Amino acid sequence: MTTIHENKGIFIYMQVIIKRTTAEIADLVSEKFVSLLEKKPKAVLGLATGSTPIATYEALINKIKAKNLPLEDVKTFNLDEYVGLEKEKYSYRTFMEENLFSPLGISSSQVHFPSEKTLSAYDEQIAAYGGIDLQILGIGSNGHIAFNEPGTPFESKTHVVKLEESTRDDNARFFDTPEEVPTHAVTMGLATILQAKEIVLIATGTNKQEAVRQMLSGVNSLNCPASILNQHPHVTVYLDEEAAGKLY
Ligand code: PGA
Repeated sequence: MTTIHENKGIFIYMQVIIKRTTAEIADLVSEKFVSLLEKKPKAVLGLATGSTPIATYEALINKIKAKNLPLEDVKTFNLDEYVGLEKEKYSYRTFMEENLFSPLGISSSQVHFPSEKTLSAYDEQIAAYGGIDLQILGIGSNGHIAFNEPGTPFESKTHVVKLEESTRDDNARFFDTPEEVPTHAVTMGLATILQAKEIVLIATGTNKQEAVRQMLSGVNSLNCPASILNQHPHVTVYLDEEAAGKLY
């Protein structure tokens, strides 16, 4: 299914693919990463955390191992990281180590996370490596991408954000107690994300229905940060039937 959005007089095609299972989505998205890595061993990957990409990372690990693809020249840039964490086990760096880097032998010298110290230097570092070739995104139930909460300016670069309570509630499942969920994070900005050459966004489950509906409504609104993706020429949105439930 292809949807057409009108954006300031310019028609942009955002490809939307609806699949029945998470496994089918993981297979398609991991295949995109594999074909990039086959063509470009020095690829720059934009990576995301959360529940959504886990199945894709599992599929990617299996495919890369099966094909014995070399990864020494790959660079990665993660979308975001918490600020003020007391326990390293909750960090997105730890998540990535466990779910992707360590199984694939990707070393710490290849990976990058934004921090309060780097901020806009993060954008410069991405640009210095030639930009992100393929960026994977989830979407928050409030329409955020990375930690760009509703109201974030479309021209934002990497910055510190105060997390919405809905985001802290959504993420509490990763913490032993809800109080441990940080109040702040550092995130690539919306303009940073839009610099990626190609973007894949995955949304699964009924709690993403409304955010997905708004993103694909054709209205670019600060209330739904993901709607900025309508301005990018090469985005594919992968949905399961639940997340697509309000599109029919
Ligand atoms: P989730 O988070 O994958 O854990 O649902 C997505 C997001 O907040 O971007």
